[in-house]
Amino acid sequence: MQNTDQVTHADHVAVIMDGNGRWATARGLERLKGHVKGVDRVRDVVRAAPKFGIDFLTVFAFSTENWKRSEREVTGLMNLFKRYIRGEAATLDEDNVRVRFIGDRGPLDRKLRSLMDELERLTETNTGLKLTIALNYGGRDEITRAVGRIAKAAKMGMIAPEDVSEQMISNFLDTSELPDPDLVIRTSGECRTSNFLPWQACYAEYVFTDTAWPDFTVAEMVKILTQFRARDRRFGAVALK
Ligand code: FPP
Repeated sequence: MQNTDQVTHADHVAVIMDGNGRWATARGLERLKGHVKGVDRVRDVVRAAPKFGIDFLTVFAFSTENWKRSEREVTGLMNLFKRYIRGEAATLDEDNVRVRFIGDRGPLDRKLRSLMDELERLTETNTGLKLTIALNYGGRDEITRAVGRIAKAAKMGMIAPEDVSEQMISNFLDTSELPDPDLVIRTSGECRTSNFLPWQACYAEYVFTDTAWPDFTVAEMVKILTQFRARDRRFGAVALK
């Protein structure tokens, strides 16, 4: 977990890629077409991130609540994730990107899970951008699973109640190898956090933009990064003169 040193640039940017459905509906298209367009934006942002000092990029691809959508949309999204992994694996590897997934893989289909495992293995030793894809991710679900594992370790006598600390909890989360996000961007006008990294982002800066994810550009990301860098991050302390 990140300490409270002043962070001068956004090491870790996390993105809630919202507005795909509305973007498509507004154009008389089915919602899935918005997600398809959204994949192009993921590609743009992944390619651009290292040029702008971003070492860690985390994107919210599918939440634990997204199962409530129509079967058609859910299946379409799952197929899109498979297509993205198959189509993008070689390029991500060539670009030295290390890909990891967070979230509960249990409910995902076997094919998707094995593609996710393969992509993680393929890119494991890459040293460039650390891309984390949150897939069937929910912050409360992640914390619940972590608490379950902590309770199990306690029951086995591996940890004592007094060992429980913020650091320990962080170590049990899916994000144990990531620094906390510095900046969370949410597209498409909604000003809520929707169960995305609630533990990790408690000191993150948030930027909400009205742009729908399929229309998001690298130029806008740069504008947001500039805005972020002008913010005074105090982490509960007093401003440094
Ligand atoms: C939210 O928009 C977006 C999603 C639930 C899916 C995000 C997925 C992608 C961008 C596809 C590609 C991702 C990867 C990592 C390959 P919404 O559908 O809730 O939009 P709405 O609020 O307008 O309905």
